[in-house]
Amino acid sequence: MVIAIDGPSGVGKSTVSRLVAERMSLAYLDTGSTYRAATLAVLRRGVATTDEEAILDLLADTSIDYDERGVLLGGESVAFDVRSDAVTRAVSTVSAHPRVRAEIVEIQRRWVAAHDGDAVVEGRDIGTVVFPHTPVKIYLTASPMVRALRRAGDSEAQGEDVESVARKLEARDHADSTRTASPLRPASDAKIIDTGDLTIDEVVEMIVSYAATTG
Ligand code: DC
Repeated sequence: MVIAIDGPSGVGKSTVSRLVAERMSLAYLDTGSTYRAATLAVLRRGVATTDEEAILDLLADTSIDYDERGVLLGGESVAFDVRSDAVTRAVSTVSAHPRVRAEIVEIQRRWVAAHDGDAVVEGRDIGTVVFPHTPVKIYLTASPMVRALRRAGDSEAQGEDVESVARKLEARDHADSTRTASPLRPASDAKIIDTGDLTIDEVVEMIVSYAATTG
């Protein structure tokens, strides 16, 4: 069974998804890292982030995969490199191309199939596009300020003030939710959880019990 967990940046998705996977002894896939790895390849090769055709050519001869350390690009572990500011700034443009998304979604579906179809899959379009038939769909939300405060505490945003983190988050949310291809939005049958006033453990508990009764 796939447990689909969607939502915007800074909502606690990764932490919560990892813990749910651990609790339920399921594999865990962070689909943002597939888009980030593709973006890293684009930046390294000097391909324009707006050139869908060139990105498709690049993806055709670049493998994106996973091992226990995280995402691999052409066999190289890039789990750290994909979190760079340059990748974060460019990823929304790369991930807005519909045919690029179609290629990346195939990588994600193959990965889940290789895990016997049992995984916690985290992203923006998992319940709406990647696994629309899974019965367990969660959409996490929190106010922009709560998310900015959380992100400002992450290692990748160290030293940045909360307002600047909030501005970047809002810009990325806007790009992700207004794009034509698979915009960020809850599936009509998703369980929506506002994480603003909940602890991580409470959110994990809610998802595990929901999966037990719905899956
Ligand atoms: O979760 P993240 O911040 O690592 O995601 C990086 C970007 O990838 C995000 O801004 C939009 C894109 N993304 C997407 O379009 N669809 C997904 N399922 C996951 C991420």
